[in-house]
Amino acid sequence: MGGKKKRLLKIAAVDELGDGESKKFLVKRADRETEAFLIHKSGKHYAYLNLCRHWTVGLDFDDNDFFSEDREWLVCKNHGAIYNPVSGECESGPCGGAALYRVPLLEKEGDLYAVLDQIDWGD
Ligand code: FES
Repeated sequence: MGGKKKRLLKIAAVDELGDGESKKFLVKRADRETEAFLIHKSGKHYAYLNLCRHWTVGLDFDDNDFFSEDREWLVCKNHGAIYNPVSGECESGPCGGAALYRVPLLEKEGDLYAVLDQIDWGD
């Protein structure tokens, strides 16, 4: 689809999140809204759908708390799956080697946007 304009959703200002912080947002697909989250880790930002690869439910308990205590890993609070915050890959626990679904980001004029038409919906 050459020339087609990307569908962008503004999520946050680039300097909004401190290291090891996160922010949730909603992405829409057809008529369904899915929760996603933005994280700031070691100077970079990453975003994923808030869907664990174990039970396809949110990783947090609705409290926007995704990181391990040492801020090195993303942890699913349901059964303790551990994901790499940079790659989204399952490091250990019941996620069975599957990676979180990535939401691609774009930085523009001091703001971060989710690229909605490039989300990995896992299908
Ligand atoms: S739902 Fe995430 S570890 Fe089970």
